[in-house]
Order: sequence, then C-alpha cells, then structure tokens
Amino acid sequence: MTKRLYIETVGCQMNMLDSELVVASLRKEGYELADSPTGADAILFNTCSVRQHAEDKIYSALGRLKHAKNHHPDTVIGVIGCMAQNHQQTIFRRAPYVDLVVGPGQLHQIPQLVRDVARDRQPRLEVSLARSAGSRSEVEDSFESYDPLRDPTMRPTPFQAFVRIMIGCDKFCTYCIVPMVRGPEQSRPAGEIEHEVRHLVEEGCREVTLLGQTVNSYRDRSATPHVRFSELIARLHEIDGLDRIKFVTNYPKDMSDDLLDAVATLPKCSHYLHVPAQSGSDRMLKAMKRGYTVGEYREMYSRIKERIPQAAVTSDFIVGFCGESDADFTQTVELVRESRFKNSFIFKYSARPGTKAAENAADDVPEAEKRRRNNELLAIQNAISEEDNQPFIGREVEVLVEGPSKASQKQADDSHTLQLTGRTMCDRIVVFEGTRRQVGEILPVVVYDANAFTLFGSVVTSHVGPEVYSL
Ligand code: SAH
Ligand code: SF4
Ligand code: F3S
Repeated sequence: MTKRLYIETVGCQMNMLDSELVVASLRKEGYELADSPTGADAILFNTCSVRQHAEDKIYSALGRLKHAKNHHPDTVIGVIGCMAQNHQQTIFRRAPYVDLVVGPGQLHQIPQLVRDVARDRQPRLEVSLARSAGSRSEVEDSFESYDPLRDPTMRPTPFQAFVRIMIGCDKFCTYCIVPMVRGPEQSRPAGEIEHEVRHLVEEGCREVTLLGQTVNSYRDRSATPHVRFSELIARLHEIDGLDRIKFVTNYPKDMSDDLLDAVATLPKCSHYLHVPAQSGSDRMLKAMKRGYTVGEYREMYSRIKERIPQAAVTSDFIVGFCGESDADFTQTVELVRESRFKNSFIFKYSARPGTKAAENAADDVPEAEKRRRNNELLAIQNAISEEDNQPFIGREVEVLVEGPSKASQKQADDSHTLQLTGRTMCDRIVVFEGTRRQVGEILPVVVYDANAFTLFGSVVTSHVGPEVYSL
C-alpha cells in the first residue's frame, strides 16, 4: 500500500539535494509525496541552523503538529539535517512527540529508521560525532557522504540538478555553525562525480550546479596526482549533452587563476560567481576569521573582472557582527558601492551557541541597529542591481527555460501561451511569454524591460511572420 510522505525543507542547496535523496530512498519503501502534513504517514523537516530564525521556525512548525500527533499517533515525525545534528536530545525535550532526529551525516539510515519507528514506536536519535569527539578520521567517517540515489521528480526541474562535490567545511569562520553540523571538509573522488553527472545527463539533465560550502577548495586527494577544482570542471565540460556548469559557494582565498581561466575559456561554464565578502572592514574580517583582508578581496575581485569581464559576481554580508561600529559598516557600504555585485544576500548577525564568536564576543549591536544596517545595505545593493540590469534592455540573452513563472502557475493547463521563467548563463532571471513545450529548452530572448531582480523579454523567433514581431 502506498504511504504518504510530507517533507519541508529550509536552508541551503545542500539541504534541497539531501531532501531529494531522502525522498528517493523513501519512494523505494512505497512512499508518495503529499502536499500537506494532514493525513501523512511520515512528516519530515529538513532543517538549518545557520541563524536562530531558521531554528525557531521549525520549533513553531513542530508545535503545530502536537495536536495532530494526538489524533494520529502512528504518524512518524522526523527532524533531520543540520538542526538535528546541532540540537540532538533538545528536540525531543522541546517536542516529545518527535520520533526521529537524524543528522546530515546519517541520512542514509532514514528508510530503516522510519521502518523501526513505525514498528517499535521508540524514538531514535542518529547523529555524527562532534568535531572534538574523536580523531579527524573518526569524525570524518561518522559523516556518511550521501549521494547514491537520484530522483528526478524531486529536482527543481528535470533538466537541472545539484551535484555535491564535497561535504563539510574546515574554515571555521567564528560566527558560523556549518563546520560543527556538517563536519570536516571532504571532497568526493572526481571519477564518482563524473559518473554521477553522466548519469544525470542520460536522464535529460542539461545544467548541473556543483555544491560545496567552499566549492572552489575542492581537491580530490584520493587521485594521483590530486584533481583540482579547475580540472574537475574541465572533465565535466567534456560530457556531451551537458550545456551548463554552475557552482556555489566560492571562498575568496581559493579563487585561483587556474579556476578563473577555466571559467573564462570553457563555454559551458556559467559566469555567475558567488564569492561572499561578509564585510568591508578589516577589523570585522579578522574577528570573523575569514582569512583575507578587504584589500585582498578587492585584488581577487579585479582578477575576476580582468579575466572574465562579463562575470556576474554576487556576495553575502553579515551586518551587526560583534563590535561592528558605524565606521566598520561604512566600509562595507563602500565595498558594495564600488564592487557593484549582481546581487548580495544580507544577513543580520545571529549568535550561534557553539561557535567561537558566541563564546568569546558580545552580540552587542542592538537588533534595531542591525535591522537599520540591513535595510540600508539592501537598498544600496538593489539600486545597483537595477541600474546594472538596464543595459540588458535591447540585448539578446540565452535562457534555459525552467517552467511557468509563479504568476502563471495557477493558469489552466490548456492555455496556449503562458508566462515562463528561466535563467541566463550569468544566472539572471528572465520572464517571457511562451508555451509549455519550450520548458527545458535553451532559447534566445530579447530583453525589453528590467528591474533589480528580473529581466523581461520576448523569445526571438527565427522566422518573422506576417505580423511584425514586436519587442
Ligand atoms: N559556505 C558559504 C555559506 C554558508 S552559510 C560561505 O562560506 O560563504 C550562508 C551565509 O549565511 C554566509 O555566507 C553568511 O553570510 C551567513 N551566515 C552564516 N552564519 C551566520 C550567522 N551566525 N549569522 C548571520 N548570518 C550568517
Ligand atoms: Fe561557514 Fe565560513 Fe565554512 Fe562558509 S566558509 S560554511 S561561512 S565556516
Ligand atoms: Fe543551513 Fe546546514 Fe545549509 S546550517 S545553510 S542547511 S549547511
């Protein structure tokens, strides 16, 4: 008999990929995806711990299930992913009706655990070792790399896929929980990645996004000689049928010339480079232990622009980090103004217990001031994004069509034309009129309008009909 699985995913692309894999493994157990938790046989939350807010949201969602669990005691409720690794027993304490707590390094156990819980009704906790709980190799081994199954139906689209090339992080930025919850940095063997990408392409995938917390620190040490990230990209570039290669997230210090040359010369490589700066103040960067100065970031940025003039560089910033003064913030504003990032993700600092910053430094910028800095920086960035999108008006761009835009998703299936959305090679979102058959194609689109986040265009048809094609 089919069973119903409801899964909610928050956090980064790593989590989206993990959910895809968890769903694939549970489908093999006879589960079908459900749109709502009502009446589901299993309810899973794939969680994130990077900011307090992300954790609060999960506890609220769990709170709402308390009542449902009283009525349907057989429903298996699971908290999986980064918050599971971070909070462990605390989750059972705060929500005693949770059955499963499973860290990101233990996701391969989920089918068995769900079976066990459904049978025994005993809560189960499966997490990896804490970073200080064993030797490096013991801790590494406790984080199982989990990429054995692919389920095209869980992917954002059938022709796009995330491919994990490394797990964990060793950078230990003082504010960040990721190295604690995702474990030591470990690169997957290049041969295994290539095999997976070939398989995805055979299934119809045209674009892969390679994932790693510091994706450009990739190094396959199991091979002799070691395989560097630029060499991995070159190998994937050879695969017939693959059209686009993207990757996130880059660590500024590891933006090597050989990588930039690969991006500049390999035509399938996206020119979208997400290289988070985090702050424009040397004092803050040092306190964050980012490992570079603003001068070094600027130098890296100019190397990108020299080699890849059309590069679309994006960044992350944290505002209101411990001790951040007005002067520090002003320096961040200057960096944003001069760099003209395609866009920036801006976050208010959130102290994470277990990190160096939370242990050693006071979270002393008031919430209202964090909000003010966040809004100010966002307004500056948005104005830049809007200005820099204007020159696209009148230009032709190549768009990989992802599907109906949000606005047209409710439209009836039989409508002839509908609003579609897709992305350019440099990750700009383009909205245009088209037909369902065009989904999954790469089309030339001429842009007629632009705002900070979106280009609006019309598909270029090769033949101009009796009516003049208007742009
Ligand atoms: N590995 C990536 C991103 C990790 S998390 C990188 O190194 O860039 C994504 C973003 O969340 C980070 O770039 C940072 O800007 C933000 N972030 C991480 N920890 C945070 C915290 N404690 N408070 C606020 N923002 C945080
Ligand atoms: Fe966190 Fe820094 Fe690692 Fe990124 S590089 S995941 S910000 S510790
Ligand atoms: Fe969050 Fe875990 Fe990603 S903490 S940002 S889901 S690696």
